[in-house]
Amino acid sequence: MVQASAPGKCILFGEHAVVFGQPAVAVAIDQRMTVSLEKNSEWRIDGMKFISKRHPHVEALKQRLWASGPPLSVKIKGDIPPASGLGSSAALSVAAAGALRCARGRQLIGQDWAEGFSARNPNNVYQGPWENSAGDSILIGNKSVDVDECAILAHAVEAHAQGGRASPLDSSTCSHGGCIVLSDKVERGLDWLYTRKLNGVAWEVHSVDLPSNIDDVWLVIGNTEVHAPTADQVSKVATLLKENPDKMKEIETIGIVARRGIDALVSGDMDGVGIAMTENHLLLRNLGVSSPELENLISAAAPSSLGVKLTGAGGGGCMIALTRNPKETSEAIELAGGKTLISRLASKGLAVEDTNLQIWNPFDN
Ligand code: MEV
Repeated sequence: MVQASAPGKCILFGEHAVVFGQPAVAVAIDQRMTVSLEKNSEWRIDGMKFISKRHPHVEALKQRLWASGPPLSVKIKGDIPPASGLGSSAALSVAAAGALRCARGRQLIGQDWAEGFSARNPNNVYQGPWENSAGDSILIGNKSVDVDECAILAHAVEAHAQGGRASPLDSSTCSHGGCIVLSDKVERGLDWLYTRKLNGVAWEVHSVDLPSNIDDVWLVIGNTEVHAPTADQVSKVATLLKENPDKMKEIETIGIVARRGIDALVSGDMDGVGIAMTENHLLLRNLGVSSPELENLISAAAPSSLGVKLTGAGGGGCMIALTRNPKETSEAIELAGGKTLISRLASKGLAVEDTNLQIWNPFDN
């Protein structure tokens, strides 16, 4: 068996404004998706027949990484609620990419991959030998897994499943873990990772080292369990800006607040982070992406929190509270009718948890 897992994410600052090039910040949360693979006589997913339309993310990865591989039994489990703004599909894509890459292995020629993520040619599938007698030139098992590659794959797959529109915020956060900042330019003082481009939009992706006092605070996530598709919320904001160009000030102010939030995060000023989160929420509310259900949970959480806001596209889905009293905040949200999850900030990224490939050659029928 091969098993990999990846975390979900919460956006601390900058949702919606990131679509217009403003900075956005997301952290990986403790809740994860786990994908395990086992060789099987036919394709199965959670014991059922694999129907590609029902599993577009797994299907897209299968085409990219397993085009000529033998049938697999795929098992998916996790504690990230689906379609609630917490990155469940990106986490699934990253974990599945990690598990498939681990099972497939990678050949290196010098410092270069002998085949890349987009190789669809079945002749590119590495066929062994699995015993490496040539130094580092053949990577199998978790040595072959590269977090950048899994982030690229997950972004491509998310875009495919969302009709071409997806920022790399979810895919990069769920792959690298920790804290990820996106911007339209390279930000001084942050660790620049790479540039991602899609449909004429470019994002500079950075990681941020958070100070140790983030251990004193928790995120309490309150789920309204109201589903509001991201695409609808994004187009709602686009229409608002078209009809009221003045509202672009709100978008720019979200960018200013996000930068203040990043400075507070980096310097360990958690009170400052909370204040910036609450300010960010008020601006999102002015853009019309909050909802009565979100406001209800936010009001309940506010008295015991450093900061509160909706997270993700809004209209439903989840809110987050940054708090030093997770039990009190969680109880307040539950009393107001929300379902809660508690997470630390900046959880670990992609992890390959079980790799038994030395004795399992997936191409050896
Ligand atoms: C959704 O999680 C975040 C949005 O900013 C959309 C996006 O960044 O693609 C609303």
